[in-house]
Order: sequence, then C-alpha cells, then structure tokens
Amino acid sequence: MTLEVGDYIENNKPRFLSELLELLKIPSVSADPEYKDQVVLMANKVAEHLETAGVQNVKIYPTAGHPIVYGEHLISTSVPTVLVYGHYDVQPADPLELWTTSPFDPVIRDGNIYARGACDDKGQFFMHIKAFEAMNKTQALNCNIKFIFEGEEEIGSNNLEQFCTTHRDMLACDVVMISDTALISNELPSLTVGLRGLSYVEVEVTGPNRDLHSGVYGGGVTNPINALSKMIASLHDSEQRITIPGFYDKIKVVSEAERAEMNAAPFDLEEYEKDLGINAVTGEQGFTTLERTSIRPTLDVNGIWGGYIGAGAKTVLPSKAFAKISMRLVPDQDPDEITKLFSDHFISIASAGTEVKVTPHHGGHPAVTPTDSLEYLAAERAMTDSFGVKPLPQRGGGSIPIVSLFEKVLGVKTVMMGFGLDSDNIHSPNEKYGLFNFYKGIETIPHFYRHYAELKKS
Ligand code: BES
Ligand code: MN
Ligand code: MN
Repeated sequence: MTLEVGDYIENNKPRFLSELLELLKIPSVSADPEYKDQVVLMANKVAEHLETAGVQNVKIYPTAGHPIVYGEHLISTSVPTVLVYGHYDVQPADPLELWTTSPFDPVIRDGNIYARGACDDKGQFFMHIKAFEAMNKTQALNCNIKFIFEGEEEIGSNNLEQFCTTHRDMLACDVVMISDTALISNELPSLTVGLRGLSYVEVEVTGPNRDLHSGVYGGGVTNPINALSKMIASLHDSEQRITIPGFYDKIKVVSEAERAEMNAAPFDLEEYEKDLGINAVTGEQGFTTLERTSIRPTLDVNGIWGGYIGAGAKTVLPSKAFAKISMRLVPDQDPDEITKLFSDHFISIASAGTEVKVTPHHGGHPAVTPTDSLEYLAAERAMTDSFGVKPLPQRGGGSIPIVSLFEKVLGVKTVMMGFGLDSDNIHSPNEKYGLFNFYKGIETIPHFYRHYAELKKS
C-alpha cells in the first residue's frame, strides 16, 4: 500500500529542511553583476530539484538577463493545469553589519530559518517542489502541474514578458499559483487578493557645473540638495496626499462594504508601533493603516545622496543631488502614465538655477484577484483543512508585476497563497521564515490540488 501524502511529508521533514538550507547558502542576488555565477548556480540547483522530485521536461532557458527554470508534469488532458510561479533570486543582503548571523549561512533560531531569501522566495517556492515530490511519490497527483521559476523578480522581471509571449502554448494553464506573500498570522491565515503596482524613478538635480566652496559661493547660487529636499517635501500636502496633478484620477473607488470588511481584520496598532519602534503611525488622512498600506497609493524616497558624506566636515556646495523614488500604485493606475505624470511635474517644479533629470526604472501594474472563483474556493478550503480556520481575503501592499502580466499574456488569474509573515524581514537584515510556515505550506499545497481538481470536475 502506498503512503498517504501527509505521512510522506511527515516522514521527510528533516530532509526537506536540510535541502532548503543548502539552497539558502547560494547568494543568488539578481541586482549585483558580481553574483551572476551564483544566480546561474541557483538555477541549476532548482532544475536538479525538479528532476529529482520527478518533474518531466525540466529545462533551463537563458534570457537576456538571468535564466528561467521550467518543468512540467502532465498526467491527463481531463484534469486542470496549474502553473506554479516563484522566484529564486534574492535581494542584496546589505547592510551586513545589521545581521545577527551571516545572510548566506542559514541557521535555525527560535523556530525560524534565518537567511536572505528564507521567506522571499526560496523557502516559499521550495514548498511547491516538496509538495509535488510528496504527491508524486504517493501517487496522489490529480492536476497537471507546470513550474516556472525566474531569477529576475527582485529587479523587475524584465525578461519574463517576452518569455511568456514566446512560450504562450507551453505555459497554457487554468490558473497560476504563487506563494510569495504573507499570512495575517499563524493563527489566522489569509489569501492575498490584491497587490499594488509600482513606478520607480531616479532623479538628478544639477546646479553649478562643479562642487563649490560653500562660503565663497554659498547664498549666491541654488544648492541642488536644498532644492531637491524642497521638491521632495512638496510632493505631499498637509493631509499626506500626493500633489502630482492627475495622480489620483484613475483610482477605482473601493466600496464602503469592502473597506469595512478590510478593517474588520484583526490589527493591533499598539503592537504594530511597538514592533517597528515608532511612537505613532502617520499617513493619508481619512484612511486606516491597513488601508494606507494596501488600497492607497504611495510615494516614498528610497535613497537620497549628494555632496560630502565622508568623515568630519567639508564645506562644499555640491554640483548635484540624487534620489530614488518609488510610487506604489492601485487599480487602475498605469505605471507608465504615472511615471510620465511624475516626470512632467517634477521637472516643472525645478528651482531656478537647477536642471532636473528623471530616469524611469522598472514598473509594474497593480492586480486584484477574485474571491468568487473556483481557485479561490479551492485555496480557501485547502487552508481551512490545514490551519483549521477559514482564511480571510486580504489585499497586500507589495508588488509582483507578473500577476498582471500572466493575466494579460496567458489570460489567467492567479491564486496568491503565501505563508510568510509581515514580520519576516523580507528585503531587510535578519530575514527569516518560520519552520511552522515552511511545513504548513507543504501540507496545504496538496489540499489545494485535491480541492481544485474536485471543483473543476463538478
Ligand atoms: N514577494 C515580494 C512582494 C510581496 C511581499 C507582496 C509581501 C506582498 C507581500 C516580491 O519579491 C517583491 O519584493 N517585489 C518587489 C517588486 C519588484 C518590481 C522589485 C516589491 O514589492 O518591491
Ligand atoms: Mn518575492
Ligand atoms: Mn522581494
């Protein structure tokens, strides 16, 4: 008699974990060309894992950037096909000095795996390979499964659209499944049903043609850092609304009913402030913290530099000032349109004596996914099975640009069944992923396939 899926998972937990720890040792940092070989190594390891698990037609596709790993396991034309997406690249680990233990030397501490990529997204996409292995080894497969893992999510998925367009038939599916988001808590699971879009720009303000003595010239010419600071400050009004003309024009109004439902989710403001070490929350007037971080757009400076920042003091009036600015977008804001609105506005508010340049970086469309679909129901039932509690639908504040891209190119919706926690420090020092979450994910995924196959049949 073959083993039940659950028993197989239970029996193999220690190996699953040690395999994940090996993957977490590979610094597959997509943003930094220094790590290019490590990204390739990671792609190879992912492909090996797919093959060992029994996935067919595993292939590594080179792109103009980092490779895409694909594999599929097709059992029948009469069962639904699920495309599992994940990303094997990670964010840079710096500042290194803020990590308690080294980012690419994973350790288990207090029930958590600490490493860069532990939650975002190695720990989460690996759950899917292990769930597949468990189903395959116990003859429990009931859907066709395709896997696509990319190495450029953290730098904007620039080569994925082209790949999806070229391989549209290969990627054809009924639904996309992604585990790259967070739960409300381990006691109260949630499914992510919305993501914000993104417009990311870099700005450069140039004043005099060279750095000047701040005494000899100070007071007589515009200082680009002073000017840039003023420009940035003017981008929000006193109610914390963004002042770029037209910025809010395309935003879809969220119904009072949906807002009420959203705000009924448990949220402890005091705990939130305490966790972040802040004495107050702030944001756009008329909206709660949960709303501000999910259904409202934002504008944030991600980095700002210029002038002298070395040791001691140097009296200098700098020639240039720079900033990187991100805007999180909500339906139906269009990233290209917003970038244009920003750029026109920012150039129009340039101070006399300066020149302003705006360079767009990557962007992404916002996405909302339905809560009344078969795939949502299947995911809801799967989480109810494994957590013993029905998950709540929740909009997330982050961005996964491929969600709207899959909808556009493949014509399919996505289920976002993530198992991380907001407190997992993704993109920050001391990134972690709970052992509970890793194993719970592996247990939940087979339930999803079972419910989805059953629901599609009836
Ligand atoms: N997994 C995150 C996105 C995320 C995190 C969504 C938490 C919802 C909850 C993803 O890897 C990510 O970091 N995306 C980038 C976008 C990209 C274009 C660089 C982001 O949101 O900054
Ligand atoms: Mn991610
Ligand atoms: Mn990320």
